[in-house]
Amino acid sequence: MSDGFYHQSFVVSFDYPVVFTRNLFDPANRAFVDAANRLMEPRAHRAILFIDSGVAEHHADLPRQIQKYFQAYSRELELAAPPRVVPGGEAIKQDLKRIDEIIRQFVDLRLCRHSVVVAIGGGAVLDAIGFATALFHRGLRLIRVPTTVLAQNDVAVGVKNAMNFRGGKNLVGTFSPPFAVLNDFNFLRTLPDAVWIGGIAEAFKVAIIQDAEFFKELCGAAKKLRARDESAMERLIRRCAELHLEHIRTSGDPFEYGRARPLDFGHWSAHKLESMSGYRIGHGHAVAIGIALDSCYAARKGWIAEKEFQAICKGLADSGFALWDPLLERKTENGKLEILEGLKSFQEHLGGELYITFPKGIGRKFEVQEIELEQITLAVQALKDLYGKGTTSP
Ligand SMILES: NC(=O)c1ccc[n+]([C@@H]2O[C@H](COP(=O)([O-])OP(=O)(O)OC[C@H]3O[C@@H](n4cnc5c(N)ncnc54)[C@H](O)[C@@H]3O)[C@@H](O)[C@H]2O)c1
Ligand SMILES: [Zn+2]
Repeated sequence: MSDGFYHQSFVVSFDYPVVFTRNLFDPANRAFVDAANRLMEPRAHRAILFIDSGVAEHHADLPRQIQKYFQAYSRELELAAPPRVVPGGEAIKQDLKRIDEIIRQFVDLRLCRHSVVVAIGGGAVLDAIGFATALFHRGLRLIRVPTTVLAQNDVAVGVKNAMNFRGGKNLVGTFSPPFAVLNDFNFLRTLPDAVWIGGIAEAFKVAIIQDAEFFKELCGAAKKLRARDESAMERLIRRCAELHLEHIRTSGDPFEYGRARPLDFGHWSAHKLESMSGYRIGHGHAVAIGIALDSCYAARKGWIAEKEFQAICKGLADSGFALWDPLLERKTENGKLEILEGLKSFQEHLGGELYITFPKGIGRKFEVQEIELEQITLAVQALKDLYGKGTTSP
């Protein structure tokens, strides 16, 4: 070692349980108390719970059930305050004042680094509560209870959170693995159709780049999924969550220091489309369009066969996705497609170099560093010709 130079290096290991269950707050179900108490510390764990307003609306009895659950396990669990309802959906991610409000509650309740924060809701609520939780005292214990398909198969098992900032989607956020993830399938029954379907897109995404067998299964189940077949959806969620967990565990880059971002397949245009629509188009619906667009480009480049492109689009359309939105052809003042600005934001996010994941055949992936803008423009036109007959995403 030369004089004055030290190389510091250490490894921190993360582990957290991911449980699939039903009736999470039935006192007969130990999943929650076991998760909160998983370090076996000999004291009651102080907890605060936040409930997504969409969940609260359809599960009016939930706060009472939670209180009864905590009473049943009063030696292990202590409610720091009655469960609180927070706005559901993208609204909660739009204004950093929300984070200020949440952290003030943590301060008022004198939560400490060992306190447990429980976020019950869709991906947006998990992201916002997760962000506030990661900041306070540099991080409390977060238990995620995801209540949408997307939140169960993707958001909750991951290691990230984020808020939107000045029109930029997920512009501020942290990498912070949860303390536990507890999935209760019963929550999904009250989802509006559009939210139910929205989560299917991420399953197609991972299947297309990672698992040909899963892709085949999804295409076969697409119509059942759309018709709200619960067992088909549970299989989808479990497999998709497994693939995400495996990626995070084995990619060697769980906190995304490098440039390769396979889980962002189909996302450069999706994020742009979401913000162009003022979040009228939900994340999953935007991702479905993003997958169709990038698959069309991949077919034009010969990376996947035309037949594979058609199978992807049919699978997505059978699942209930609209694969066209008029915003795709909105132009900027200089006559370019506005959606292409999504590539620039992606590039900036990756530190100046573009790295985009594409399928190479179904079930395999590779990284691309250059995108031909004219070919994307032609792919947009092709999607319009195929799916542009008066449909818009929910
Ligand atoms: N952190 C990550 O790694 C990550 C990954 C993917 C997506 N996301 C984020 O997740 C968000 C999208 O999440 P989402 O698709 O879950 O949608 P969402 O959180 O926006 O929720 C959609 C709607 O469903 C309602 N809702 C939630 N659960 C319900 C239930 N059980 N019954 C009835 N209504 C219910 C909500 O109130 C909301 O109105 C986006 O902000 C996206 O950026 C984060
Ligand atoms: Zn996504």
